[in-house]
Amino acid sequence: MNGNRISSSPTSRQTAIRGNNHRKSMSKNRKVSAPTKHSKKQYTTKSKHPSFIRTEEGNDLIARAKRYLNGGYPVHFTGASGTGKTALAMQVAAELNQPATIIHGNHEMNNVDLIGGTTGWSSSKTIDNFVRQVYKQDANVKENWTPGRLTEAVQHGHVLIYDEFSRSTPETNNLFLSVLEEKLLPLYGTKQKQPSVAVHPNFKLILTSNPTEYAGVFQTQDALADRLITLEINLSQQTKETILRKSENLSEQESNTVWQLIEQIEHETDDESVGLGLRAAFMIARIAKNSKASFSSEDSIFRQTCSDVLSSYLVRSGRSGTIQEAQNLIREILQDSH
Ligand SMILES: Nc1ncnc2c1ncn2[C@@H]1O[C@H](COP(=O)(O)OP(=O)(O)O)[C@@H](O)[C@H]1O
Ligand SMILES: [Mg+2]
Repeated sequence: MNGNRISSSPTSRQTAIRGNNHRKSMSKNRKVSAPTKHSKKQYTTKSKHPSFIRTEEGNDLIARAKRYLNGGYPVHFTGASGTGKTALAMQVAAELNQPATIIHGNHEMNNVDLIGGTTGWSSSKTIDNFVRQVYKQDANVKENWTPGRLTEAVQHGHVLIYDEFSRSTPETNNLFLSVLEEKLLPLYGTKQKQPSVAVHPNFKLILTSNPTEYAGVFQTQDALADRLITLEINLSQQTKETILRKSENLSEQESNTVWQLIEQIEHETDDESVGLGLRAAFMIARIAKNSKASFSSEDSIFRQTCSDVLSSYLVRSGRSGTIQEAQNLIREILQDSH
């Protein structure tokens, strides 16, 4: 089954073109390809989350997402950072049992990254020196076309995960309007003979975005938002506890220590838009386990780890003016906790 593979790589950009050497040759026909900087598939990874923990809430979201995707509609997971959007998207893609591709939104992404572009050239040269006195040479140079991730996904019917899609500009994301509405991917600005690529009936699109992110995020155009089924990811505390405990093999007490601290830190800030989420909890738990620290404020490694992981959050949320202030506050909270 090759359906569970996911490919992920920045799309190859235009590569430097090198001339071929003009070696005199007796060969009748010789093909030379200019090397391209990136190979087409830079790395591949399993689309399945390596240790996805199933919970009732997660199962419900996965079932709904699969239902809408199988019904022909794109699904959009939205929620604060670290709420498990990407993990869910990868799990849904894996369960659909078809090839999957992941791309990550960023403000520099453009049509060439998505559609494809020319990457070097290939040339064929015929040197006819059969009769010694007659020298005839034919050269034929043509540009190589490398399809972008979106073209490949659309053409071959992949599940495309477009992670953090609102970090790309609306102009770039406009391409998705015709993919979703006309079922055609226009090959704008390319030298391809055909004007567009037909969207394969199996093509499915899962998007994720963080509406509370303030830096580097563009307002999603209504035309695109209207065509997505948006599911908000806001897992309950109990679900998050289960995920962390099972995933990191924690005792109930270890898990409680981490979550109590995170809750206290979150309580210190009024700004609900910058949640700590699962990611910070995973960081603390994983590092503490890995360094065999005990999950207690009396353990210096545990204390230091909590301080390093959580202090920048307090600064970002405006609760502390400097990292030093944040570290002092975390120390006080940890001291009070025992
Ligand atoms: N169901 C789950 N099972 C195991 N790990 C999970 C699960 N959900 C989230 N995680 C982990 O929690 C962290 C945050 O999840 P992620 O999907 O990256 O959040 P988001 O994309 O919303 O920022 C990651 O380390 C991820 O691997
Ligand atoms: Mg993510």
